[in-house]
Amino acid sequence: MSVGSPLPHDAAKLHVTGQARYIDDIPLPAGALHLAFGLSTVAHGEITAMDLSAVRAAPGVVRVYTAEDFHGHVPDCSPSLGDEPLLTSGEVQFIGQPIFLVVATSHLAARKAAKLGKITYKELPALLDYDAAMEANSRFEDGPRIYGCGDAARAIAEAPRKIEGTIEIGGQEHFYLEGQAAAAVPQEGGDMLVHSSTQHPSEIQHKVAHALHIPMHAVRVETRRMGGGFGGKESQGNWLAIACAIAARDTGKPCKMRYDRDDDMVITGKRHDFRISYTCGFDDEGRILGIDFLQLTRGGWSMDLTLPVADRAMLHADNAYFLPNARIESHRLKMNTQSNTAYRGFGGPQGVLGIERVVDHIAHTLGKDPVEIRQLNYYDEMVTPTAGDGVPEDHVLSLEGEPTSEGSVEHVDAHPQHAGGQLTPRGKLTPYGQEVEDFILHGMTEELLKTSDYAARKKNIEKWNSENPIIKKGLGVSPVKFGISFTLTHLNQAGALVHIYNDGSIHLNHGGTEMGQGLFQKVAQVAAQEFGVSMDKVKITATDTAKVPNTSATAASSGSDLNGMAVKNACDRIRTRLEVFILERFGESDVTWAKGKVHFGVHEMAFEDLISLAYMNRVSLSATGFYKTPKIEWDRIKGKGRPFFYFAHGIAITEVALDTLTGENRILRADILHDAGASLNPALDKGQIEGGYVQGAGWLTTEELVWDAKGMLKTHAPSTYKIPACSDAPDVFNVNLWDGRNREETIYRSKAVGEPPFMLGISAFLALSDACAACGPNYPALNAPATPEECLAAIGRAKA
Ligand code: MTE
Ligand code: MOS
Repeated sequence: MSVGSPLPHDAAKLHVTGQARYIDDIPLPAGALHLAFGLSTVAHGEITAMDLSAVRAAPGVVRVYTAEDFHGHVPDCSPSLGDEPLLTSGEVQFIGQPIFLVVATSHLAARKAAKLGKITYKELPALLDYDAAMEANSRFEDGPRIYGCGDAARAIAEAPRKIEGTIEIGGQEHFYLEGQAAAAVPQEGGDMLVHSSTQHPSEIQHKVAHALHIPMHAVRVETRRMGGGFGGKESQGNWLAIACAIAARDTGKPCKMRYDRDDDMVITGKRHDFRISYTCGFDDEGRILGIDFLQLTRGGWSMDLTLPVADRAMLHADNAYFLPNARIESHRLKMNTQSNTAYRGFGGPQGVLGIERVVDHIAHTLGKDPVEIRQLNYYDEMVTPTAGDGVPEDHVLSLEGEPTSEGSVEHVDAHPQHAGGQLTPRGKLTPYGQEVEDFILHGMTEELLKTSDYAARKKNIEKWNSENPIIKKGLGVSPVKFGISFTLTHLNQAGALVHIYNDGSIHLNHGGTEMGQGLFQKVAQVAAQEFGVSMDKVKITATDTAKVPNTSATAASSGSDLNGMAVKNACDRIRTRLEVFILERFGESDVTWAKGKVHFGVHEMAFEDLISLAYMNRVSLSATGFYKTPKIEWDRIKGKGRPFFYFAHGIAITEVALDTLTGENRILRADILHDAGASLNPALDKGQIEGGYVQGAGWLTTEELVWDAKGMLKTHAPSTYKIPACSDAPDVFNVNLWDGRNREETIYRSKAVGEPPFMLGISAFLALSDACAACGPNYPALNAPATPEECLAAIGRAKA
């Protein structure tokens, strides 16, 4: 059984021994050239003069490009609107915008020369904060987008109780260990081979072809792995690939570009920062009756992926809670800073933090345990499917008959308080009209409260806080319900290519990319499972646009869902051909594939013997596979439909300690229960959960982006921008997988796991808020990131 095994990452040994090849490690033919951008130093302005003589004269410089070199056809790098000229000659829109491109004989020579440009600007007023952008009506659409259900204003007005507030939510630098990088190698006849550190090879292919004015068939993009992407390599790698391809075409030499860390941070977009204001009406027990959210977000200077990111923030404004009357208004603001982009959760985390703040605020107002308010407002728990419920009979049978994991449905019954109608049903319709059919957080919450010893620890902390005036402790609980599927419906498709060579070894390729998340290993496990062979029979190969075309970005956590299914489809096709061959040749139709052997009738044959026999009998041993996600439909203008195939769930409980004199704090303990369905690989999934939690906690605590009054990003290196270190992971870190299967027919009933656990880091933020609240009677209204300074400010508000 390879599916479900906790195998290590396929490249783990290569990673730790330094043998894993990243873009910068790929040996290039002799004479390779290196590129660097010359960057704008004002946030908004018109270029009035450009003196690049020192750049051109610098040692090693081979060529310098400006926008003028493209004679009115400057290549576009945008994934959406066509608003990202590779080089600008007119309007400059943020500090860090590429103005000229240096091609030199070494990386260092290019970078040094890029500093020598003398650009003169006429400075224009820059939009750097939400208020300025709102006032200027600077946005990417005509107006705000509004989703909702019921009558929020009326429900709030008629509710017994009401709260209002605002939370500032900072952005986040991706801080992938491998920075953005690309290399282009010219081929015969004007063709181009591009190596790119990208989550989206097909997009690179498309943009490079467009820039070179050649068909996509003349461009091949290869990506073996990224040293992390986290969403930052969905679109922002376009610039480097396009620059390299143009310089390679013009010089006939291989060209490589990688951003130095500071340049990477100054040039590329980040997680969208948000300001979320809320008004909420609720009853005396804490049931939310009506809610109104105002979400402002910084898109930055160009559109990039801002619209779908902001949509997803709206689609997660409910998180795990039934909102009978909701209004969500979203403003996507165009401002003179980096163009913000995808980042793990894709706007979801910001939306989730909005509602988690509200629930926390309600609990504080009522003097109740926030967990109680959460449970009270949860969506209805999934009911045990029965054949009568429109669930196909085989589905029910398979839920019961599968020995590897119990259906999560059984956990509902394990908690008697939720059985027999004792759980007051609240509802299962989201504000966007999708029914939540697979909600399992009631059971998960009960379980985690128990295993983490929540009630006793809460009492102890209350006692500690009453006895200790300076060090305060806090507990935070946050659930997550995350929608799985691209909200742009057509992206939910994937392809695969599987070959079996006549020695029985298997060559595996699919459209997904590897960025450390373990996708390749999971998909290889699927292939091994399908043929009943051991993992060493399966060769994992680089993502390649020449093998699988028209792929979607590896994003939205859908990598294994989509590519796993596409690979299964390809394997099934080959297997069917082999089974037809067995029937014709041996007259047997009952074939099983296991442990490297094929069994049919009285026969048992080694897999490779069958393959060699099939080859001799001219059976095709290669197949493509395809998959498209069923059931989804979505109207993003109306904000109604079923954008998600299913939901993935998780819950975390975090304990922190806070020094109320300095604001210093640390996470003492975290307990997590996460729903990865029937996990394809529990070891990799746990890795994703731990990493996601720590990255999420980093976002909301230590990672602070600071721009100065002129719009210069001052935190552009690890010296000033603090991501969590190993020592920041909780000392006690209990991570467990919920034992349940996906209700929907996903690959082996697993669930996507890449992004959802990121939001579990919110529990660390809520724990800090809890510790601040221990300092005084008022709600501390903590903003994110909760840096020591912000914690001190929140303590001040609590005491005031
Ligand atoms: N894990 C690692 N180690 N490195 C990454 O770059 N990216 C995250 C997540 N986990 C990332 C990661 C993001 S943003 C997404 S969308 C998913 O992985 C993508 O991979 P998947 O769809 O295969 O889960
Ligand atoms: Mo992930 S933000 O969808 O690349």
